[in-house]
Amino acid sequence: MTFRNGNTATGNGAGAANGHNANTHGAASGASPTPVAGAARVTSAPIVETEDLWRIYRLGDLEIPALRGVNLSIGQGEYLALKGRSGSGKTTLLNCLGGLDKPTKGHIRVFGEEIANWNESKLTKWRRHQVGFIFQSLGLLPALSAYENVELMLRMIGMRPADRHKRTMECLEMVGIGKWADHRPYEMSGGQQQRVAVARALANHPRLILADEPTGELDSKTGREMLKLFQTIVREQNVTMLMATHDSLVDEYVDQVLHLRDGNIVTAAEFNAELDVEPAEAAKQ
Ligand SMILES: Nc1ncnc2c1ncn2[C@@H]1O[C@H](COP(=O)(O)OP(=O)(O)O)[C@@H](O)[C@H]1O
Ligand SMILES: [Mg+2]
Repeated sequence: MTFRNGNTATGNGAGAANGHNANTHGAASGASPTPVAGAARVTSAPIVETEDLWRIYRLGDLEIPALRGVNLSIGQGEYLALKGRSGSGKTTLLNCLGGLDKPTKGHIRVFGEEIANWNESKLTKWRRHQVGFIFQSLGLLPALSAYENVELMLRMIGMRPADRHKRTMECLEMVGIGKWADHRPYEMSGGQQQRVAVARALANHPRLILADEPTGELDSKTGREMLKLFQTIVREQNVTMLMATHDSLVDEYVDQVLHLRDGNIVTAAEFNAELDVEPAEAAKQ
């Protein structure tokens, strides 16, 4: 199998998702391939960077290259979507960036730290303090109330009880479900459960939020509310958010769309041109 070299993408600056030659932060030139939300852009040194990032799964003798030399660069305070068809490597990339998975090869720098070679316990500790995850399956514990689901996160990072209470309520209020604190997930709508998952992801004051298809199971009205909520959180908390999604609605809300195809970042034009190509054909390139 032949592997291509990765393109470079940066979420910072208008030409960013064009990939090639776009690794300058705050670049003012170039047309954005997707609509950009109206809010002010934040430009700064990158807080997430990958360099020739590979993740090859091995199943017996079979090698499955889920990421093939991804180069990307994301600045502080950006709200980015990561699009790509199923199997293109979105989840793998999020997991690698958040320290849930380890790359086979390449570099990952998050907040200036090279995390690619860290061991499990170091990654776990780091992740709990720096990263907020929102999964499509939400991962809420059904026996716990909304309050307890969020508070559990804070117990895990060792926050004092009095501070835990304050922070838990703060986060539930922030996502508009303070009144539902005592309810369990099954007593809530899909949108409300999603808000609990968001509150939990925010609880540890993460600087980076990674979301894996967070609107995948929501109706379009609730999905829009969620995308708007993320936008507000990114602006107000000055966090950075990368969200894997299939949702066409996201273009209206995010600053930038990164396109992933067969384990690599491609330009919007390449991405759209290849939409008709069968995955097996695309994989041969
Ligand atoms: N744990 C795993 N073991 C083997 N192959 C995997 C594993 N996870 C993902 N893959 C493969 O890696 C590729 C990328 O998967 P994934 O990152 O889940 O893509 P996406 O999230 O875009 O659907 C796919 O070919 C998938 O089958
Ligand atoms: Mg996925």
